[in-house]
Amino acid sequence: MGKKVLVVGGGGREHAIVDALAWSPQVEKIYCAPGNAGIAYQAECVPLKDTDIDGLLAFAKEKEIDLTVVGPEAALAAGIVDRFRAAGLKIFGHTKAATAIESSKEFAKRLMAGAKVPTAAYQTFTDFDEAWAYVRAASLPTVIKYDGLAAGKGVVVATTLEEAEAALRDMLLDGRYGEGKVVIEEFLTGPEFSLMAFVSGRQVRPMVAAQDHKRAFDGDTGPNTGGMGAYTESFATGKSGLSFISDEEYDFAVAHILQPVADAMADAGTPLSGVLYGGLMKTPDGIKVIEFNARFGDPETEVVLTRLESDSYDVFEAAATGAALPELQWKDASVMGVVMASKGYPGSYSKGVPIVITPDFRERIYHMGTKRTDDGLVTAGGRVLMAVSEAPTMKEAARRCYAGIDQIRCNNLFYRHDIAKYVLL
Ligand code: AMP
Ligand code: GLY
Repeated sequence: MGKKVLVVGGGGREHAIVDALAWSPQVEKIYCAPGNAGIAYQAECVPLKDTDIDGLLAFAKEKEIDLTVVGPEAALAAGIVDRFRAAGLKIFGHTKAATAIESSKEFAKRLMAGAKVPTAAYQTFTDFDEAWAYVRAASLPTVIKYDGLAAGKGVVVATTLEEAEAALRDMLLDGRYGEGKVVIEEFLTGPEFSLMAFVSGRQVRPMVAAQDHKRAFDGDTGPNTGGMGAYTESFATGKSGLSFISDEEYDFAVAHILQPVADAMADAGTPLSGVLYGGLMKTPDGIKVIEFNARFGDPETEVVLTRLESDSYDVFEAAATGAALPELQWKDASVMGVVMASKGYPGSYSKGVPIVITPDFRERIYHMGTKRTDDGLVTAGGRVLMAVSEAPTMKEAARRCYAGIDQIRCNNLFYRHDIAKYVLL
């Protein structure tokens, strides 16, 4: 009998996960909660929120789901994996305790210190006066991070004392995000990249690396966003997937960052059973960790899973059950993805604007925030669509991707024109 899978989430990342599962010959039926208008082509969308654990659990039991795959960190942090496993159901993702690698900056920092994983030096503070005295004595820029999930907005790179003071007031005195605790970090420099791995206990299977583009506008200007585009390069330039990361640097990141973290989590009695996402930086002193996430990155997943040739069901199931992970096979292609976002994002923006994708659009399209209404396809989020193209070279992938975007008609979207510019210049 073919397998029934439930994917939790409703963004571009989940669309890519659904797409990967749809290719598996073992998978017969995919449900996605809540899904979106693009996901609806490949999966049956279920109107349940990603954090409605009672509802999702009841649904999975009723439909006799074989495997659940979780996208968003909010569901993991809410304990969806613990609840499903307690009910005897197979689920891919980390337990609530293991999700602390993302949800608590201080937990992640302490774990790295214990496992000798290279990262920025840091101090933790709960008291405003102590934090402020520390910042005044330290050098600028300084990096101030709120210790908890803050929807990607809890990090301030302060270049002036005024900015630093405002950030500390926000996080420690005004209770903007909840109980106040901050991590103050040394400022590191160098290109950033994302290295994700499937982890099953102590076993780590790294994926090909990708680079995200976090600023809203061309030339890395404008506000920070969830990510405006990503790419991963063919093996012509080495095995890492990025020409600026050598084979030795890739091996170093796996052996001295991902593996020791998996081991330390297992030693602590909170083994990993999903994706470990390393937000890494190539500094003048070598590869260092900027942050960890306990889930697939978005938009990195859309380009990375496009290259996965192995049967994704086998990989997800092995990590879900603590079994041995299969060897991963990666397609030797350059893949580039460009996010189309609502004008105004990451600030406020309008929704419900019609989108038309012409029949001449020939690339992959992952939906990030769309809805189908009586008027057809409309925008329904900040990040709306992601066009993804693969080709033997990045230049060709970029040409195809931007030609594809010309076939998408919507008067309220913007996108960056310089994704993968580091490679293409
Ligand atoms: P995070 O949420 O920890 O990934 O931080 C968001 C962004 O802030 C990162 O992508 C970096 O660009 C920047 N950042 C965080 N920590 C540091 C650091 N120690 N040095 C320099 N930049 C940093
Ligand atoms: N693209 C960054 C993230 O998923 O956190």
